[in-house]
Amino acid sequence: MKLGFGSFGAKSMIGLDIGSSSVKAVELTMKGRGSEFELTNMGVAKLPSEAIVQGAFLNSSAISDSIREAIDNGKIKTKHAAAAVCGHSVIVKKVSLPTMSRAELDEQIRWEAEQYIPFDVNEVNLDFQILESGGTEGQMDVLLVAAKKDLIDDYVQVITEAGLIPAVIDVAAFAVENAYESNYETNPSEAVALVNIGAQVVNINIVSDGAPAFTRDITTAGNQYTEEIQKALTISFDEAERLKLGGKQSEDSKEVVPQEVEQAMRTVSETVIGEISRSLDFFAATTADSRIEKVYLSGGSSRVTGFESAFHERTGLPVELLNPLAKMAPNSKFDDELLEELAPSLGVSIGLAMRRLDS
Ligand SMILES: Nc1ncnc2c1ncn2[C@@H]1O[C@H](COP(=O)(O)OP(=O)(O)OP(=O)(O)O)[C@@H](O)[C@H]1O
Ligand SMILES: [Mg+2]
Repeated sequence: MKLGFGSFGAKSMIGLDIGSSSVKAVELTMKGRGSEFELTNMGVAKLPSEAIVQGAFLNSSAISDSIREAIDNGKIKTKHAAAAVCGHSVIVKKVSLPTMSRAELDEQIRWEAEQYIPFDVNEVNLDFQILESGGTEGQMDVLLVAAKKDLIDDYVQVITEAGLIPAVIDVAAFAVENAYESNYETNPSEAVALVNIGAQVVNINIVSDGAPAFTRDITTAGNQYTEEIQKALTISFDEAERLKLGGKQSEDSKEVVPQEVEQAMRTVSETVIGEISRSLDFFAATTADSRIEKVYLSGGSSRVTGFESAFHERTGLPVELLNPLAKMAPNSKFDDELLEELAPSLGVSIGLAMRRLDS
């Protein structure tokens, strides 16, 4: 899915994941005739908190600086970048339309979209995908995607400002799906839930028949853990974040992890898993013909201790961490341990960097 830009078919592309806690930049290079990719470079840079809040760019120059820093850290030379939007300014909807060709729909999409999206159609960028599934006689299913122009403009601005060329703007949940489909044997008759848990957002995408059947972004994510620890111990956000990631309360403290931290982690996991389960339950209740067979977790917060097993216990579903590098050609310049640690956080960026001419 691409919003607003022409396709781009160069050998290398940067997948640029501008998350609210950090910018993740990966450079993938096509090998041979193009179905295999190699991770050629990778860089990560922290974002100051409050630079992105609820999807809004509150400090564009700080965001550009972090993009530049991630590119420098990764020694990335490629200029073309694919980025992804998510949140309330992005609408994904499956609609049923009279059967027509791609070209015809291209002409009519604006008019058709008007009745399905809650924004002025002149203020959004639109894209669509004709789905192979479903559709009664004379009708076809179409996945309609609309993203507010303001939001896309913000992305274009920070990317350009950082010295890169915005080539593709995708939707975060679709990028994760792309990473999943490129790395796993998929069975079209099985629905899987892809759940990307970041700092501010959880992107849910239930994929069925090779297409997104249900997408939702939830705004209870990793920061909630940090805020809960912050409240319990009356400390700063940064200090609480350090404790969350397994640090000690102070350098000479003998205490390993204060009990309050473990308690807060458990409570918030329950809330986050509860929110996600509600979406999965909604899908199950409204979709008669497919059942979720498996859940793939990605995003930094998928690494919260005990999250995977708590998720399994709550839902009864098999749960696994998504490895977006599973089928990638190995590159010995990266330390295996580092890759293993980072992999779950790279779902969006890897999925983006694989976007090519015909995808
Ligand atoms: N080992 C860990 N245990 C617990 N939390 C972790 C761990 N590693 C990372 N996190 C949390 O993961 C979050 C960052 O994940 P990610 O990079 O996917 O988010 P983001 O893309 O920056 O944010 P968003 O997409 O929500 O705007 C932070 O909240 C961070 O504290
Ligand atoms: Mg993210």
